[in-house]
Parts: sequence; structure tokens; C-alpha cells
Amino acid sequence: MLVLTLETTCDETAAAVVNERLEVLGAVVASQDHLHRRFGGVVPEVASRAHVERILPVIDETLKRAGVKLADLNAVAVATSPGLAGSLLVGLVAAKTLALALDIPLVAVDHVQAHVFACRMAAGREVFPCVGLVVSGGHTSLFRCRTSTDFTLLGSTIDDAAGEAFDKVASMLGIGYPGGPKIQKAAAAGNAKAYRLPRALLDDPTRLDFSFSGLKTAVRYQIAGPGKADFANLHLPEQQVADLAASFQEAVVDCLVAKSILALEQTGLTRLCVGGGVAANARLRERLEQEIAERGFELFIPPLSLCTDNAVMGAIAVDRLLAGGSDPLDLDITPGLVRRTAVSP
Ligand code: KG4
Ligand code: ZN
Repeated sequence: MLVLTLETTCDETAAAVVNERLEVLGAVVASQDHLHRRFGGVVPEVASRAHVERILPVIDETLKRAGVKLADLNAVAVATSPGLAGSLLVGLVAAKTLALALDIPLVAVDHVQAHVFACRMAAGREVFPCVGLVVSGGHTSLFRCRTSTDFTLLGSTIDDAAGEAFDKVASMLGIGYPGGPKIQKAAAAGNAKAYRLPRALLDDPTRLDFSFSGLKTAVRYQIAGPGKADFANLHLPEQQVADLAASFQEAVVDCLVAKSILALEQTGLTRLCVGGGVAANARLRERLEQEIAERGFELFIPPLSLCTDNAVMGAIAVDRLLAGGSDPLDLDITPGLVRRTAVSP
């Protein structure tokens, strides 16, 4: 079985061809970073227009790399939730068109579940049941994952997503976009103990939620104090930027690591699967590798290319297709996060 998977939830246009053994025959990610850089964040209208321009060339190139023709495809899967409405629609329309023209099944993919499934793709073996930590520009959530698609929300951010905080702090520090990699680079030359920054909700050992907006404000105060600030014309000394980046990064990592361990302890599960763009962060990876192993848990964290948005993780659709499942051609997008009820382990 050959499945074409499409991913256009935010600002990456991605496609992959996978087979029933979850082998990846070809994969392409076209980034739009350069289009959004000058705005300091993803502009939805710019993103959806760029997807329109890229989706067909990306599909063509993916098929070429996989060495397959359109007529060889047995199914098409597409991320329909959550994401930016205009971006999601481009992938969905492309997927529906192929499903109709080729008379093959169409399957919807949940982008958040797919981020956890990236761990299954990278590991090459079973990772479920597990605790899933999805930490990206749009989400920071912990799930009990019974199977690849049976998730219960354990906790999530009550304000900003961790990636969003990385992007905003990088913008205040004037070090560019996207913020995660820039902060990581600046932090390498910094002292993580230079600034005392808040770790919200860490003092509540029962709660699996996160909060990063206070941390972001604390960094702002360190840079410019309260009141109006002209961040574009603030020229901070290099060492101060490095120290703030390192202190901020450590505060985020402290929260992500502590709550992940708490989720493992509360659920009695032994595996932690981490996905999403922030999972590419070297300090987070280092701390998780050390602290998860120390406690006898097992950590699954994909290589960087499978942490940020990609279509390989769309292979989550394979199980459902093998069971004969598919979605109707009037399938719609669900831009908002589907709340997975029961906030208890
Ligand atoms: O999963 P993703 O590609 O897109 C969303 O679904 O949001 O995640 C993008 C986010 C951005 O906020 C970016 O700054 C962050 O992931 N990110 C990182 C790193 N690389 C990307 N954050 C921290 N450290 C990194 N190395
Ligand atoms: Zn994502």
C-alpha cells in the first residue's frame, strides 16, 4: 500500500510517500520561514498563499524521490486539525482532488497526534502506550496516549505555547525568527543562572499544566522595564542577550522536564514520546535524556527533521487505512484544538 501524506497546517508545505510497513519512500518539506521573518511570526494569509504555490511542486518532487507515479497511490492522508484555516484548506483541497481523481480513500490526520507518532516513525518500533508531550509554536500539552489515536489530555498551557514564547523572546532580544533555534544558539554562550526567572506552576505537584506568559513578561522587564519599549532600537550587549537567552531557555526546559516526569509518575506509564518544533531544542533533549533515563523511564524523541512540521508523521493514517477506514469527500477542516476531555490521569 502506498500512501501520499500531506501537511499544510501552519507554514511548512510537506508531503511524503509511506507504505504499509511505515517505510518512508520519499519526503519533502518546503519551509516558508523567509516569507514570515520580517513580520516576526507566521502571517496566516501569506502562509495560505505560499501553500497554494508550493503544494503541487512539493507533491511532484515527493513522488519523484519516492520513485512512484500518481497512479501507483493507494490512499491519500492529510492533516485537517488543528492549524490555520487557510493553510489547512490548501492541503485538504489537494488531498480531496487526488482522492476523487484517482478514486482512492481519503483519511484525515490530527496534527497533534501525528507529532507524537513521529516518535513511532523514528524508533521503528512500538511506542504506545506512552505519555505524549507535544511542544511547538501552537501547543504545549501532555497526553496519556493509549494508542496512536486514543489520547486523553492531561494538561496544557493556560496561555502561550512554549514555541510561541521562544519566538516572542527572540524578537524582544532582536535575534531574529524563528526564535527557537536563535535562542538556542545565543544561549550557548550564556549563563543560565544569570537571571532569576519564574517557573510557573512548578510548585503545584498535582497539576500538569504550563504557563509561559509570566516568564515572557519577566524577560521583557529585564530588557526594558515596564511601560512602552522600542525593541527594534534596543541594542543590548551580546553577553546580556546570551545570558537572557540561556536563563529563559533553562526556565522553559525546567517546566517541560518536571511536568513530563510528573505525568509519567501520575499515570504509571513508562514511556515518554516528545514531538513538535520545540523538541528540536538541544538543551531540552539533553535534560530529558538524562533525567528520564535516571528514573528508569524510556524516552522517544525524533531527529530534528521529524520534530518540526513534516509529512512523514502523517503515516499515522496507515493503521486506519489497513483496517479499511477512510473519511468522506465532504470532510472539513477543524482549525481549533480538539479538546480531549478528562483532565485527570
Ligand atoms: O511543530 P512546529 O514546526 O510548528 C507548529 O506546529 O507550531 O514548531 C515550530 C516552533 C516555533 O515556535 C520554533 O521557534 C520552535 O518550534 N523551535 C524551537 C527550536 N526549533 C524550532 N524551539 C526551541 N529550540 C529549537 N531548537
Ligand atoms: Zn506542528
